[in-house]
Amino acid sequence: MNVPHETSAATAAQLTVKSAEDMREVGRRLATLLRPGDLVLLSGELGAGKTTMTRGLGEGLGVRGAVTSPTFVIARVHPPLGDGPALVHVDAYRLSGGLDEMEDLDLDVSLPESVIVVEWGDGKVEDLSEDRLRVVIERAVGADAPVDDADDVRSVTVTGVGDRWASVDFALLG
Ligand SMILES: Nc1ncnc2c1ncn2[C@@H]1O[C@H](COP(=O)(O)OP(=O)(O)OP(=O)(O)O)[C@@H](O)[C@H]1O
Ligand SMILES: [Mg+2]
Repeated sequence: MNVPHETSAATAAQLTVKSAEDMREVGRRLATLLRPGDLVLLSGELGAGKTTMTRGLGEGLGVRGAVTSPTFVIARVHPPLGDGPALVHVDAYRLSGGLDEMEDLDLDVSLPESVIVVEWGDGKVEDLSEDRLRVVIERAVGADAPVDDADDVRSVTVTGVGDRWASVDFALLG
């Protein structure tokens, strides 16, 4: 059997996030670790908090325009207000064709000079970069979740794939 080559992947951080505001703060902190050309893949069910985290990323990066759920557009470009990279926020939910379709979008931005954040991108946009940061957001269920407001607790797992992330210290996220 031909097993696809997978570069090093190690869980970099495991967080418990208790509110939407805390999720934004995680995004703001994560932004300090991001560089132009970085790809962040956000996974998690509907309403998990992917856009909420991206809002924080946008604030942390210092980009123009509020990050919202791109309901009618697949991708939105947020230009930098200062010297930092632009944020390209992609909702790949309705992107069936994967990368080709993404390239067809003709985004008026240089992807290597931007930070690209993709919701619902699993299995679709990995080819954009050998290195990527995988962020999985799950509703906390079971024994670890408080009984009264279990809905608000999320567990966030950050995994760095590829050399880019090999020696990055994620301690500040916690
Ligand atoms: N701990 C938490 N972290 C993030 N969001 C939370 C949390 N607790 C409650 N929420 C609420 O959950 C909702 C998350 O919505 P959001 O749009 O960020 O999800 P999403 O993963 O982007 O969904 P979709 O798949 O539809 O794009 C918001 O209404 C937010 O206020
Ligand atoms: Mg969303």
